[in-house]
Amino acid sequence: MIPYKHEPFTDFTNEDNKASLKKGFETIKKDFGSEYPLIINGERVLTDKKLASYNPAQKDEVIGQMSQAGEKEALDAMEVAKETFKEWRKSTFEFRSDVLFKAATIIRKRKFEFTALLVKEAGKPWKEADADTAEAIDFLEYYARQNIELKNGKPVVSRPGEKNRFDYIPLGVGLVISPWNFALAIMAGTTSAALVTGNTVLLKPSSKASVISYKFVEVLEEAGLPKGVVNFIPGSSREIGDLLVEHKDTAFVSFTGSRDVGVNIYEKAAIVQEGQINLKRVIAEMGGKDTIVVDSSADLDLAAEAIVTSAFAFSGQKCSACSRVIALEDIHDELLEKVVSLTKDLTIGNPEEDNFMGPVIDQASVEKIEKYLEIGKEEGKLEVGGTIDNETGHFVHPTVFSGLKHDDRVMQEEIFGPVVGFAKASNFTEAIEFANDTDYGLTGAVITKNREHQEEARRDFMVGNLYFNRGCTAAIVGYHPFGGFKMSGTDSKAGGPDYLTLHMQGKTSSEMF
Ligand code: NAD
Ligand code: ALA
Repeated sequence: MIPYKHEPFTDFTNEDNKASLKKGFETIKKDFGSEYPLIINGERVLTDKKLASYNPAQKDEVIGQMSQAGEKEALDAMEVAKETFKEWRKSTFEFRSDVLFKAATIIRKRKFEFTALLVKEAGKPWKEADADTAEAIDFLEYYARQNIELKNGKPVVSRPGEKNRFDYIPLGVGLVISPWNFALAIMAGTTSAALVTGNTVLLKPSSKASVISYKFVEVLEEAGLPKGVVNFIPGSSREIGDLLVEHKDTAFVSFTGSRDVGVNIYEKAAIVQEGQINLKRVIAEMGGKDTIVVDSSADLDLAAEAIVTSAFAFSGQKCSACSRVIALEDIHDELLEKVVSLTKDLTIGNPEEDNFMGPVIDQASVEKIEKYLEIGKEEGKLEVGGTIDNETGHFVHPTVFSGLKHDDRVMQEEIFGPVVGFAKASNFTEAIEFANDTDYGLTGAVITKNREHQEEARRDFMVGNLYFNRGCTAAIVGYHPFGGFKMSGTDSKAGGPDYLTLHMQGKTSSEMF
């Protein structure tokens, strides 16, 4: 087997690549406004209730009208997933991995089409959309290989006359609930991990970017996935979310999204329902309030670049985005000046035209960010940004606040927009204390040339993904297993060597000769 290597990113300074992406836009535009069905047991189910998925950069452009599953469809899908599990659990590891390998190949061939759809449906700038597509391919390639490695279980000790084995077997029906911000990568990663390990899946994607998930399920079908293994059921969380989380036959929930929703799912899944015979597992990857710490020895140009990229790429809408900077007093002002200057140079506009920053996802997001812009003005000093253009699309200008205390609200609550706050610390140990003083623990970065500081951070900075002398976003599957501590989730480390076994149970068998 060819060793795993991450999918290369596309160089959009190359005219051929630009032309291919433009062609991708033309291809997907032909389908705009189409109606999309649910997929249950391979059957297309159009429902009366539909929800429009629209382009956040151009609000009147409808990407698709997505059928919404109600209680009936959700329960039908559950029955199918239960039935299908009886056979799917017996499928070989190789068969299941081959579906993922094939799916990766199909997406790679249609890469520009998927990237174009992410630009249009999620408002991602080219580079970000390309990285999302590449990450989806990476998850498929990586989990396919990891799964084969689990084929013979793990070695255990035997004694004379006794042969012991330790194997991994699937759990049952998994409910996969995915976010819109990595609408392809995270949805594909969580779905493929669940199915490749022999489980059947109820896929409830985010309604804010659901067309891309429909396209992904089509790819799985083309790759040879038997019907009923993945059942595609977008729908209102109120109507079918709790219903499926609480369902007695849900074996596990793989959730990626906000803290409040994740905590709610975690609590609901813990309650054993009548007739339930398994304790549910919950994989929950939740929000972040991610800090970059800059000390006095740091290369301040590198620090400023890392902050601006981590805070504003994809409009700050990454769980890993930098939203707090803790800088040592002596370099704080110079660093802030550099960050403000770089921020002023960023281009913002329609992502189809390759701007650095596009829109935020929707009206609710604009309103939430607007609220924090007001809070930020009260708590600190607005250095740049702070304005919104919500006419044709949902555009929020990249915003920097200074003069904050590390425990101010804009430094504590997840805003999920292009807003970063600066606070000072008097020494490095205090900077790490301030960095740790949030409920979250997802990513963080330290910009330093001081090795002792680096080791102090490695020991004391409580984040699941810690980076030195670079930004705090852009983890790569297989290279930087991703997941957070504290209220950022269950630290399940997507794209890491232990991830698949979270979807399986270990079975010991012992034979006497
Ligand atoms: P969200 O919590 O609003 O929604 C996530 C998913 O949960 C969506 O599919 C939504 O439809 C569904 N959902 C909402 N209520 C539900 C309920 N009661 N029952 C079942 N499902 C329900 O999050 P979002 O706005 O889609 O995504 C942004 C959030 O996700 C941010 O907080 C971000 O930090 C986080 N995120 C975390 C990671 C990570 O790996 N830690 C990655 C991406 C995003
Ligand atoms: N995996 C994504 C990142 O690291 C969220 O930015």
